[in-house]
Amino acid sequence: MPVAAPPVPEVNPLREGLEQERVPEASCLVIFGASGDLTHRKLLPALYSLTHDGLLPAGLTIVGFSRPDYTDDAFRAEIKEACNKYSRTRPVDDAIWENFAKGLFYVKGEFGEAESYVRLKQRLEECDRTRGTGGRRLYYLAVPPAFFPVISDILGSQGMVTDPEKGGPYTRVIIEKPFGHDLASAKELNRVAVTTFRERQVFRIDHYLGKETVQNLLVLRFANGIFEPFWNRQYIDHVQFTVAESIGVEGRGGYFDSAGITRDIVQNHMLQLVSLVAMEPPVAFEADAIRDEKVKVIRALRSLPVERQTEFVVRGQYGEGSALGEKAVGYRNEPSVPPESRTETFVAIKAFVDNWRWADVPFYIRAGKRMPKRVTDISIHFRPAPNPLFRRVPGVRVQPNILAIRIQPDEGISLKFDSKVPGPAVRSAPVTMEFRYATSFGGEPPEAYERLLLETMLGDSTLFARRDEVEAAWAWLDPLLAAWAGDGEPALYPAGTWGPPEADLLLERDGRRWRRP
Ligand code: BG6
Repeated sequence: MPVAAPPVPEVNPLREGLEQERVPEASCLVIFGASGDLTHRKLLPALYSLTHDGLLPAGLTIVGFSRPDYTDDAFRAEIKEACNKYSRTRPVDDAIWENFAKGLFYVKGEFGEAESYVRLKQRLEECDRTRGTGGRRLYYLAVPPAFFPVISDILGSQGMVTDPEKGGPYTRVIIEKPFGHDLASAKELNRVAVTTFRERQVFRIDHYLGKETVQNLLVLRFANGIFEPFWNRQYIDHVQFTVAESIGVEGRGGYFDSAGITRDIVQNHMLQLVSLVAMEPPVAFEADAIRDEKVKVIRALRSLPVERQTEFVVRGQYGEGSALGEKAVGYRNEPSVPPESRTETFVAIKAFVDNWRWADVPFYIRAGKRMPKRVTDISIHFRPAPNPLFRRVPGVRVQPNILAIRIQPDEGISLKFDSKVPGPAVRSAPVTMEFRYATSFGGEPPEAYERLLLETMLGDSTLFARRDEVEAAWAWLDPLLAAWAGDGEPALYPAGTWGPPEADLLLERDGRRWRRP
């Protein structure tokens, strides 16, 4: 019997040309932790926006699974409100919503109770019959990592996971960070994951990889002829990475205090940025080829000498100060944070990628909460030109060129170079050449979660962290985190500043300065 082709969704003309042509097959996406914040703020708004832009198959079915009691309709109403508040394509369009809501269901259940999964399974099979999802399953674990073993265990024992080696419809699992607390716990989570799933069924979310500007690092480096010849120790003096947030811990004091900024941001997001900037060209534009090169960078990171920490690392914690023009409390006075907490809310690290390309080029990394503004920025600082020509020309200062990649906000790339100031005197001044996403491509780039959810449906794991990457990142940071657990205190900095003065000293000792992004 001929099988009807799946309906091809309409492409929103505004985004035509910016989009890939791949449309995933209809599947059932189960969200464990459907009543939580991530589901409301990120996942469902992203799925709605994808639907709005015509990028999802008509039969896509979303099943929320969590403890509270909702009817399908009550769940839909709550999600509609969330989409109206948080989706990129808000306000919600009633006609599109109606269609979207037809594929949205809710199953009440306990993560650790097998009978709940029986009900879930029945609902999924019903969707296979009514919505053409063909047994394809995506399990999104929007839950604390402690639930991961029990959920994957029951999914396995209830026969809800297919083996890709045996063919048939796919099963994939999507895991949220934190992926471990240290190397040992990450290894344990990985061991659990591959007990029920195969590595290629596991999609570990690092939402930084879903950001357009992060993906553009590969295109910038490898689709242009002019950058790569200079992308090495002969031309690059050093590289800076900044992930600054103006917010504090925003009601997540309990989680944050057990993690700290190094685990929260550096271990995952920042090391992903470092590896994309430092990696060798991959042999193919394909998930494992790219991730092979990324993991080599992480493995090449020089061990941090914990006994001479102050030369390489600064940890800070915000005290009282101001944030966006208002008075802000110190970290230790945040809700759920113990008053004697030694957790770092700021970290700066001088790192080295010990390989042929980058030997002795410092990679300065810093991340902090309660900084003066929200900005994620990477800057490549080139070696200055030799200066015999202008040495005796007082108006000309030869300054290093800087290629700055603005990951967010005001996404773009700029190149700073010296130019002659017009007029009879020979004087130079730095100028910048700018590319801005908003000007060149218009509109806002899609949300990271939109891209990542789409990729899980397409089965492409390029933008997800592989097991060895995660473990290599922990292996690099573990000795430092262990040393901090033992002793020492973070240096205080007032909320609303760029971290403790020690962070400036880290660069000043090397004759350099942090760029103010
Ligand atoms: C998350 C961290 O992974 O990233 C948060 O847990 C942080 O603490 C957030 O605020 C930052 O993400 P973005 O996309 O706003 O830079």
